[in-house]
Amino acid sequence: MHKYLYFEEIDSTNTFLKNHYEELDDQTVVQAGHQTKGKGRLGRTWNDDSSSLVFSILLKENLDASRLDLLPLLCGAAMVKTLEQEGIPSNIKWPNDIIIQDKKCTGILLEAIHEEGVKAVIIGIGVNLNDKSFPSDLTFKAISLHQVTSKVYDSRVVLTNFMKNFDFFYHQFLDRDDSFMEVVKSHSYLDGKRVYLNYYGEDQHATVLSIAEDGTLKVRLNDKEVFLNSGEVTLEKNYN
Ligand code: BTN
Repeated sequence: MHKYLYFEEIDSTNTFLKNHYEELDDQTVVQAGHQTKGKGRLGRTWNDDSSSLVFSILLKENLDASRLDLLPLLCGAAMVKTLEQEGIPSNIKWPNDIIIQDKKCTGILLEAIHEEGVKAVIIGIGVNLNDKSFPSDLTFKAISLHQVTSKVYDSRVVLTNFMKNFDFFYHQFLDRDDSFMEVVKSHSYLDGKRVYLNYYGEDQHATVLSIAEDGTLKVRLNDKEVFLNSGEVTLEKNYN
């Protein structure tokens, strides 16, 4: 069983867990109705207008620093399964996004607290749930589940369904069974696409080949096969 906390409004569920991880249990889940300072990857903000599912999971036990990069993909696989159970096909855009109809519906932000090793990991997830529309700068980039099915979703139900899938994959993961990678690899959005990336400070074009078993992205870059870690590369833009 997960300890569960709910806040009608909070700055950020990730920030909350960062500030309170010491007194909270492993696998505590924090959900918010609305975040005032939602954080995205790469220092970006994550805005929600209360139509979203926003939550974070705290992991404190059995942490293996060498396997942390797999956790966003594990969450991606759990989200793909959750959406599939709702009848919605989706894909994982390596390393952290879930895509429906070429638009982003879910973002995942992993933050680790280091203090003589990894003390805690916080996985924050934002799902566009019931948004009827998005600001003009996001219209062509973002999509909500409601826009796909016209249904109105209960965020608590979607979270419960997600956590069942997360638990299934996470227990396997702790036993060194990375079966979730089959879901990841078979739902890779970027496979075969040309991407523009910043590789060690240099802007380059590459063709994505696949997501590798260890969670790195295999690309063809200057006629060589290169395996990219999420920390090494920024995907600026995709070319279909
Ligand atoms: C991204 O796509 O850049 C990642 C977005 C992650 C947003 C979620 S919402 C819940 C959790 N709390 C935060 O402040 N951010 C994450």
